[in-house]
Amino acid sequence: MTQRVFSAMQPTSDSLQLGNYLGALLQWVALQEGRDAVYSVVDLHALTVAPDPAVLTRRTRVTAAQFLAAGVDPERSTLFVQSHVPQHAELTWILSTFTGMGEAGRMTQFKDKSSKVGESGTNVGLFIYPVLMAADILLYDTNVVPVGEDQRQHLELSRDLAHRLNTRLGEGTVTVPEPHIVKEVAKIYDLQDPTAKMSKSSSSPNGIIDILDDPKVITKRIKSAVTDADTVIRFDRENKPGVSNLLTIYSAFTGRPVDHIVADFEGKMYGHLKADLADVVVGALAPVRDAAMEWIESPDRLDSVLADGAAKASVIAQATLERIYDRVGLLPPKRR
Ligand code: TRP
Repeated sequence: MTQRVFSAMQPTSDSLQLGNYLGALLQWVALQEGRDAVYSVVDLHALTVAPDPAVLTRRTRVTAAQFLAAGVDPERSTLFVQSHVPQHAELTWILSTFTGMGEAGRMTQFKDKSSKVGESGTNVGLFIYPVLMAADILLYDTNVVPVGEDQRQHLELSRDLAHRLNTRLGEGTVTVPEPHIVKEVAKIYDLQDPTAKMSKSSSSPNGIIDILDDPKVITKRIKSAVTDADTVIRFDRENKPGVSNLLTIYSAFTGRPVDHIVADFEGKMYGHLKADLADVVVGALAPVRDAAMEWIESPDRLDSVLADGAAKASVIAQATLERIYDRVGLLPPKRR
């Protein structure tokens, strides 16, 4: 049987960052090969942080456009927006009745997020966020879920729920998913503070690279990346975090091992490395950016692709939901 892959990202930014692109999206594209891949823009998850409505709408399209631009192929795979397939919300309700309060309360991401905003700022949606994620996965008889290390615990909950459903409702109710924890192919650090992970919450925008950034901006940020007083180009995460980060990015984009790159730059200056790296990154991202812009500028075409994806997804999701509704004993509506 063809393996089913499922993964998703929230529409919470106007551009994916370099880390998401290298670590997640390129992985998704590769996993389409020989598998049945289902990828979603999970807008219902994004509601847990109360986004501005117009911003959420825009980011949903922009996120889908980047998936397509990076090579997610809607002919081979299924690409859809979560809220277009109502079965996600419906299965979440059923799964919530199978989830213990303590079990949900132990999720470290919930604890982190809710402790930041305090109890009064925390909504119930944030609490059941991992249950909605389990619904995403279980609806599609998913075998493999590529996610980052930070989602490991959520995936464990999905697996526990799958086992529980199969025990209580009968074997074959749902497929138990396997995690495919994306090794940090390249852990990318902030260009201005190379000891911190490159992230949206970065102190300065100059430390990050968004894949939709203007090529001039990308070049400027790479050229002004923090290095160190010494002048030798070598990989040393401890003592030379800035230079090491540039080498990591270089390696991720070219697919060449770091030591080969170091050998090429022997005797050269940081300026050379930065200039070459800027060309490499801009060269690789420019076509992705152009393709994403084309999709963003033709929202009607984009929405059609997403509608086709939702139609394909619903067929699978509805079959799973009906099986579960039936097994929990919900009275089926009389067909007319
Ligand atoms: N919670 C995931 C994240 O923040 C996004 C997500 C939602 C997801 N549903 C999913 C990932 C299902 C994999 C499978 O990265």
